[in-house]
Amino acid sequence: MSSNVQTMNAKQLYRRLLTYVRPYWFAFMAAIIAMVVYAATEAGLAALMKPLLDGSFVEKDSDIIRLIPLFLISLFIVRGTANFFTTYGLGWIARNVIMNLRTEMFERLITLPSSFYDQHNSGQLMSKLIYDVEQVANAATDAILTLIRDSLTIVALLAWMIYISGTLALIILLTVPLISIIVFKLSTRFRKLSKIIQDSMGDVSHISTEIIDGQREVKTFGAQTYELKRFDKVNQRNRRQRMKKLATEAISQPIIQLITVIGLSVVIYLATLPEMLEAITPGSFISFVTAMFMILTPLKRLTKVNAKLQGGIAAADSIFTLLDQKPELDEGTTTMGRARGEISYKQVNFTYDADKGRVLEEISFDAKPGQTIAFVGHSGSGKTTLVSLLARFYNLSSGQITVDGININELKLTDLRRQMSLVNQQIVLFNDSIANNIAYGHAKHVSNEQIIAAAKAAHAWDFIERLPEGLATKVGQNGVLLSGGQRQRIAIARALLRDAPILILDEATASLDTEAERHIQAALEALMKKRTTLVIAHRLSTIEKADQIIVMHAGQIIETGTHSELLEKGQHYAELYRLQFQEK
Ligand SMILES: Nc1ncnc2c1ncn2[C@@H]1O[C@H](COP(=O)(O)OP(=O)(O)O)[C@@H](O)[C@H]1O
Ligand SMILES: [Mg+2]
Repeated sequence: MSSNVQTMNAKQLYRRLLTYVRPYWFAFMAAIIAMVVYAATEAGLAALMKPLLDGSFVEKDSDIIRLIPLFLISLFIVRGTANFFTTYGLGWIARNVIMNLRTEMFERLITLPSSFYDQHNSGQLMSKLIYDVEQVANAATDAILTLIRDSLTIVALLAWMIYISGTLALIILLTVPLISIIVFKLSTRFRKLSKIIQDSMGDVSHISTEIIDGQREVKTFGAQTYELKRFDKVNQRNRRQRMKKLATEAISQPIIQLITVIGLSVVIYLATLPEMLEAITPGSFISFVTAMFMILTPLKRLTKVNAKLQGGIAAADSIFTLLDQKPELDEGTTTMGRARGEISYKQVNFTYDADKGRVLEEISFDAKPGQTIAFVGHSGSGKTTLVSLLARFYNLSSGQITVDGININELKLTDLRRQMSLVNQQIVLFNDSIANNIAYGHAKHVSNEQIIAAAKAAHAWDFIERLPEGLATKVGQNGVLLSGGQRQRIAIARALLRDAPILILDEATASLDTEAERHIQAALEALMKKRTTLVIAHRLSTIEKADQIIVMHAGQIIETGTHSELLEKGQHYAELYRLQFQEK
């Protein structure tokens, strides 16, 4: 995923991850103690071989013969307990870290500016929230477990080996630098592959969301084969990268084991030399070899942990990149109660992308409280952009917009947005009851009477009443269980209940048929009453009644006036009127 945030190096990532673990330090300490105990029991197991052989088989010491089974059982009880506390403790921390990271990401997602969403797809973001977070926590847990417990086990076993014979242990130790070099070389590759895998997971989820959301389009356009091919491509890529990682893992393991076994063979060869055989008892030798074999398992995990760790690091990078995105600018400090609804645009210039041309040029107009300003113009002329600037979805390039004479940049974002209701062509309903959709966003409790009143004023009550479950009817994801006109009226009821002094209607009736539109027209008029309305309309009657009509072309205002004034002028508006509205 492209991002302008600088990628952190591994050390910074570890450190940052650690801040998430810090609140759970007590559980972490407990787990570490448990790991130390576990490592000690491993060495104890190898150590037990010496008295077992020397004492019972060689010297036939009856006390030791009787004690050894007891030792063995106690050792495994301690080992089991330590294992439980390690697994539970680390698991508990991991689940908490996952939860906290998800909360933080969610908090970030709801405060990110519109421009961020213009540039990122929802599939990639979902994949971060679901896949990457799990991966970080799993990798971290496994890594900690291996790095601490297995390292300690290795150290404890080595210590025992040195205690038995320094010379033999030295040979084993000689293989360590060799293994380290290989492990180091592999890390870079693992990390690179993990990053690609994450991105391809994002692609898989991106394409899936698209065909889920657009299932009707896929069917009507017969695009199944096309989508399958598209999906197959990313799916294949995902598999290929996974296989590359798997292959790297699969090669690295036997190589490391081979090096270890060569060391082991040298040890066996040396230990069986006559001068050595005299210095070492059979029990000591077996105990040494046992320790050496016992080292293999944690050592193997130690080499495998790298792949996981690098995956975790790449995932952490992806998560922190999201967390480091700048939230919407909200530096305004001026508070505002209910606005009167005076809006003024002064020489507003705007561009979505500095590299591309201006989308709006020198836009100036005023709306007095309660007035209706209508915007007309060809599609792409900048109408939607113009009205979306009022809610500060984007920041102006230059010029200023004021509400009740206050620059909107100086207002607190919540106070600014509280002044307006937005109804546009694409109604967003939440998968909840009709009542909750109408009352959406209300901090205070809204009574059923209020909701019904809003529904009635929005001409929505007729159909709501006829539904078997009335207001409690669930609307389905994005309101799919309702018709376009019904959704529109729910949105209008929502805006009515919100009762904001400024209303923005962006082609609110564009997707409706004439019959539905007639219903909604009355609802809209109820909504526009006593509010300052910026309306982008397809419907002639709304425009005719507007106090001022602004004609847009290529980001500029080319004409303003009332309906009759503009018709009289006989220029752009008259032309548009003839083309767009007359035949209706
Ligand atoms: N989110 C966006 N990012 C980049 N460019 C955009 C975005 N939205 C609209 N545009 C561009 O800005 C111009 C004006 O679009 P818009 O305001 O939607 O026009 P209208 O509502 O009049 O059809 C168009 O050229 C469009 O391609
Ligand atoms: Mg538009």
